[in-house]
Formats: sequence, structure tokens, C-alpha cells
Amino acid sequence: MKMSFSVYISSSFASFSLPPHKVVVVLLLLLLHHNANAASECDLFTGRWELDKSYPLYDPAACPFIEREFTCQKNGRPDLDYTKYRWQPLGCNLLRFDGQDFLERFRGKSIMFVGDSLSRNQWQSLTCMLHFAVPDAEYDLTRQGDVSTFTFTDYGVKVMLDRNVYLVDIVREKVGRVLKLDSIEGGKLWKDMDMLIFNTWHWWNRRGPSQPWDYIQVGTQITKDMDRMLAFQTALTTWAGWVDLNIDPAKTRVFFQGISPSHYNGSLWNEPSAKSCVREKQPLLGSKYPGGLPPAVGVLKSALVKITKPVKLLDITLLSLLRKDGHPSIYGLTGPTGIDCSHWCLAGVPDTWNHILYNLIL
Ligand SMILES: *[C@@H]1O[C@H](CO)[C@@H](O)[C@H](O)[C@H]1NC(C)=O
Repeated sequence: MKMSFSVYISSSFASFSLPPHKVVVVLLLLLLHHNANAASECDLFTGRWELDKSYPLYDPAACPFIEREFTCQKNGRPDLDYTKYRWQPLGCNLLRFDGQDFLERFRGKSIMFVGDSLSRNQWQSLTCMLHFAVPDAEYDLTRQGDVSTFTFTDYGVKVMLDRNVYLVDIVREKVGRVLKLDSIEGGKLWKDMDMLIFNTWHWWNRRGPSQPWDYIQVGTQITKDMDRMLAFQTALTTWAGWVDLNIDPAKTRVFFQGISPSHYNGSLWNEPSAKSCVREKQPLLGSKYPGGLPPAVGVLKSALVKITKPVKLLDITLLSLLRKDGHPSIYGLTGPTGIDCSHWCLAGVPDTWNHILYNLIL
């Protein structure tokens, strides 16, 4: 790159013999031109959704292992436009997802998603995208405790999911179930991976019967509850320390999935009468979300900048915020009485998360 660059400059010198201030202009133009074409330097997370008839990236009916909660079509969703939107970054194009190439790159290697059901959503999306690329290749799906393993046996590629909703530990003690913000023994399962994609957020706001802990502990201090955003931040700091202590960047690439947003309040997308994502069939067009980013994004970003080891944020919040149409709504696991505006239909939005992930590892 450097070579051809300097040749180009000296040839423009020779042919036009520009005065020095014009050389600076030429240099700047060349740099801009170069950046616009290099996906690796382009912000893949700023863009807009465009209808693309060639979408989705796979036929969900040809993905036999998608769980019921994500198969919106199978659950009766009649509209299909939500499967037909392609993410268009503003400054460049995403390279096409090539599942065979992905599997070759990870031959003999292991990938693990760690987190809550939004991790499961992205894990299922990736296994469907890869299976669709090599429909005749053998695969094996097993589950042991909290870890599900999808193996592409012909390639020796493992795509795994460790369900761990807080990343830090919940320990059963005499007083009850204690959420320990500075303990991360679960990390023992993550050590030998070639790629890790973490996520935690949605469970930090759980209260009442669905809250899976009774006490919360930092150091020797045990309390009944605390500010949830502070708890989230403390756990992220513990996780960041784990990454710095345990990750060998020569072996393992580390990503954070980012905050996946919900759509339960239409005021945030200029539709105050909407109480949820039900009947939403179109994304927001354009690149702006009226309601802004959820506060958890700022907390996450400030935790990530303190990590010394390379960790890349899969910054999917804004692009997902624009997709009020992408949730199961009444076509999810909860059936016609429940409304799911947190998870995402497959095929759908998480395919784009994986498409961007693929572009980041190229
Ligand atoms: C919805 O968002 C608006 C604007 O931020 C806020 O004023 C309102 O309280 C929210 N409604 C609910 C039910 O959370």
C-alpha cells in the first residue's frame, strides 16, 4: 500500500509539478479516497437499512435447529419485509457473508458466545448462516449444563454458547443466592477459545420472582439490593479484569456483543400511541433514533476503554434500535398472550450482527 501510494504522489508531482500547498490537498484527497474504500477503517455501525430483494441471508425453514422462540414465520407472522432489510454503512459496503470462507478460517477452532438469550439469538443466527452455506456438511448439536455446542464436524469448527446472564457468579450460600459482583469463576469455561463474544445487560433490571438472586455482594459487603447500573458497571469491571488477566491476544479474539435494545415505548420512535413493537412492520428509515441510546451503552463503553487487551465492541445498539419491526412481538415463545419486543426474529437483525462480525475478522 505504502509503495504504490508514494509512486502515485511522485507521479502527480512529475506530471503537474504542483506547488506544495496543492500537494497537501492531493494527499488529503488520496487519503479520503483510500478510507472510503477500506471496510476495515470504515465505521460499520453508522448507516441505514435498505430493502434488498436478495435477502434474507438464509431460508429459516432450511435451518432445522432454530428454537421456537425465534422462528416468527413458523409461529404465524404473516409479513416478511422484516427479513428483507440489508444494513448499509454510510462510508463503505459490507463484504458479502461467505459461510464457507468463515468455516475455513476457523478450521479446527472454537468460537464461544457467552451471555443471556440475546447471545443465544446471535449464536442461532450464526449457526443458521453457516449451515446454509454448507447444507450437506455434517453437524452435531449437544448440550452439557449451560453450554451448548454446535460442531461442523467436517471442519472441526465449534460454535458454542455458554448461558451466563451476568458474567459474574451467583453462589448458593446459607443466606440464599448471592450475586457476587467481583467473582468470575465462570471464566474457567472461556479460556481455550479462539474467539469469544460476550454480552450481559438485560438481566440487570430484573426484579421480583424472575430475579435469580437474593443478595448482592461486593467485597465483604452483602446487601439486599443496590443501584442496578452501578452493579452492572461493577460486574463489567470484574469481567474487564478477567480479560486482562487471562486473554492471550495471539490466540483469542475478544468481542463484546453490545447492548441489544428493546421496543416497548413508542414515544422513543415518535409514535407515542405504540405501547410495544406489535404491528410494527417497517424499520425507521435514516440513521437516527429519536429516543437516543440506552444509558447502559455509555457504561459499557467506559468499561471497555479501561481494558488493556484488545476487545472490539460489536456496537449494534443504534442499528438495532432502528429495527422496531424485527422483534417476535406476538409471534414468539410466549404465544398470543405475551409480547416479545426484546429478542429478534430469525432470519433477521442478528444476521446483520454476524455479518458485521465477519467483516471485522477478515
Ligand atoms: C416512554 O418514553 C417517554 C419519553 O422518554 C417517557 O416520558 C415515558 O415515561 C416513557 N413511558 C414509559 C411507559 O416508560
